[in-house]
Amino acid sequence: MFTMMAGILVFSLLLVACGGTSTSTTTGTTPTTAAATNGKGCKQAGILLPETATSERWDKKDRPLLIADITKALGTAPFYNNAQGSATTQQTQAQADLANGACILVLAPADSVSAAAIVAAAKAKGVPVIAYDRLVYSADLNYYVSFDNTKVGQLQGQYIADHYKSFVTANGTNNTVMINGASTDNNALLFNAGALSALNPLFTAGTLKKVYEKFTPGWDNATAQTEMQGALVANGNKVAVAYVANDGMANNVIAALKAVQLNGKVLVTGQDATAAGIQNILKGYQAMTVYKAITKEAQATADLVAALSNGTDTSSLTAGNTTTIPSGGGAAAGAKIASVLETPVTVDKTNIQSTVLADNYVTVAQICAGLPSGTGGICP
Ligand code: BGC
Repeated sequence: MFTMMAGILVFSLLLVACGGTSTSTTTGTTPTTAAATNGKGCKQAGILLPETATSERWDKKDRPLLIADITKALGTAPFYNNAQGSATTQQTQAQADLANGACILVLAPADSVSAAAIVAAAKAKGVPVIAYDRLVYSADLNYYVSFDNTKVGQLQGQYIADHYKSFVTANGTNNTVMINGASTDNNALLFNAGALSALNPLFTAGTLKKVYEKFTPGWDNATAQTEMQGALVANGNKVAVAYVANDGMANNVIAALKAVQLNGKVLVTGQDATAAGIQNILKGYQAMTVYKAITKEAQATADLVAALSNGTDTSSLTAGNTTTIPSGGGAAAGAKIASVLETPVTVDKTNIQSTVLADNYVTVAQICAGLPSGTGGICP
């Protein structure tokens, strides 16, 4: 008992000491966090991104855009962290941000379930949290900014429904493989549900046959390759369609197809409109990707950050839109979170020019690197 009490005392003293440190690094006499309850008056945001390896978007797009837009909104550069796929690391990073006076958090969770603890810790300090791109299963979440992720999956599934025929004929099989993202990412569940809304009627009718389906832990690209190899071996290389949730995994799935000379012969999907993904489309190895204009996602987030800091009404930004936390969200299930959801766009070889190139999301130099002149009517 005595040891426990002493422990609590030491812990409290530590807390006081930390509070003292944070006060002394703050300009003025009031600590930033106290001055910025619920974000009002806040000048110091903290950005917590989930990983870098699974998709180049996080480091190449989200990081620079969020830092620039939030710096502009608050006049102070935000703290920036990347958890490299570890929910525990993200937890530590969030605690450090809060201890150092972050008064608004922008959080793309490494794990949609366990990140609820970050929201709870922030709430205890009066710090609002905006879930960025990936939902956090917490009823205390203040906002959610993302894309319509069920729609992302629908676009992928519908593309297969519209284009499977020639692949089935050429391969003499209707075998279909599904390689999903990480089941700990709410988005992966939505992409899968959206895709199945277009594909289930074809599976039920026997038009396409689902022979393999996996959720890929951590969205790990190399694991996706092993999964595709497994699907090929189990089906004697008879596969016509590979639904793949993003471009990073698709690139590795294509490597597995190359090893058995099936690259370009199987309908492969993707997402993120990465330079490598668009290049795979130009090479004919990937059929489509989904373009998500991250510029808009980052700007919408910075607009919310600015409104919170200024203490102005955010209802014109969220326009009454909400996202309901799904049944997998435990105690938070059913809670409605005010949301901004941007619209995803299908990209295939027919509209590269008018979408990702027109928006300068990728450059001709990036997507044409090493490709023969004239490829796709795009490459110089
Ligand atoms: C994002 C995708 C990304 C994937 C893997 C998802 O939550 O929405 O854009 O490809 O995570 O990082």
